[in-house]
Amino acid sequence: MIYLDNAATTFPKPDAVWEAVISCGREKCGNPGRSGHRLAAAAARELFAAREAVAGFFHIADSSRLIFTANATSALNTALYGLLKEGDHVVTSALEHNSVMRPLHTLEQQGVIALTMVSCSPRGELDPADVKKAVRPDTRLVVLTHASNVCGAILPIREVKALLPEIPLLVDAAQTAGALPIDVQKWGIELLAFSGHKGLLGPMGTGGLYVAPGLQLAPLLQGGTGSRSERLEQPDFLPDRLEAGTPNLPGLSGLRAGVEFIEEQGLENIRNHEKRLTGLLLDGLAGHDCIRIHGPADPERQTGVVSITLDGRDPGDIARRLDREFGIACRASLHCAPLAHRTLGTYPQGSARLSMGFFNTEEEIEEAVRALRAIAEEKI
Ligand SMILES: Cc1ncc(COP(=O)(O)O)c(C=O)c1O
Repeated sequence: MIYLDNAATTFPKPDAVWEAVISCGREKCGNPGRSGHRLAAAAARELFAAREAVAGFFHIADSSRLIFTANATSALNTALYGLLKEGDHVVTSALEHNSVMRPLHTLEQQGVIALTMVSCSPRGELDPADVKKAVRPDTRLVVLTHASNVCGAILPIREVKALLPEIPLLVDAAQTAGALPIDVQKWGIELLAFSGHKGLLGPMGTGGLYVAPGLQLAPLLQGGTGSRSERLEQPDFLPDRLEAGTPNLPGLSGLRAGVEFIEEQGLENIRNHEKRLTGLLLDGLAGHDCIRIHGPADPERQTGVVSITLDGRDPGDIARRLDREFGIACRASLHCAPLAHRTLGTYPQGSARLSMGFFNTEEEIEEAVRALRAIAEEKI
């Protein structure tokens, strides 16, 4: 199989990831921070090592400000419900995933927040000046995806932050953690949400949220933390405040191994490899009468995510045929981001999305180009 669905979750994962999961499960899986025996202490050390590794990766100075979650969705909900209060105004973009748009829409419908959605160009470009124009005196938060999961377009996060230093910025890094460098300190990001199972190469069931000093979020979940157990209130310190319940320790050991793998390979080398493959795919599809590429169509301005449509063909049918006839796995339809498709002009049918990862090869991309051109050239 040629796997081109890495934007959904990366596959395969490095062997070291599964080895870490198994060795943690076999040797270290007491409940961290709960009991005092040796196995619980080993588990607490394992959890701390994972937190330090992931925090270091994003240049987070104090690893206790990195909260582990089950996925990016859980991190985004923790940030949005934890920060926003009645009367707040929020600015977001028209490229956001439903894990941002649905909670914001719900809060807006409930009359809790007012929401302004900033338009992007049909190529997925966001003008930082438009974000600034959307800001009001009651704006409490700007929420932006770092890169579109539909077309790969990279958004100008740093430029927005430079224009709006005073307003907290929540960055959805689901598509960029492990694919592009991220430095929360240098960039001044207040909240960073990410998946562990995509570019960071960790197992499913992992993700996280960075919360900058000075921001106090209300917890989405309350419960056992192993700390301050005599009190009925959730602890006010991190990470415990936002991490109620037993963590996915084997998964987090795997996530640490994923991050270490990326550091061994070099993030820059990974980015260059994905850029090369993206360029190969874009060049291979360019110039065909019936193939439309949606988004920047420029490897420098996008991640390894390419969305296409073929004139007169249903994207679901393209994906099905790629799978059944050519052994190529990709994703079709709306990719949980209907507003992004409205922006790109691909609503409601959506697109076929091919997303590349570290383990893809040039030969695989050439095969995908041949397959798509063969489908495009058939008479309808
Ligand atoms: C941009 C974006 N945000 C959020 C998510 C949600 O991530 P998760 O599935 O880890 O919750 C995704 C998943 O595809 C995504 O692409």
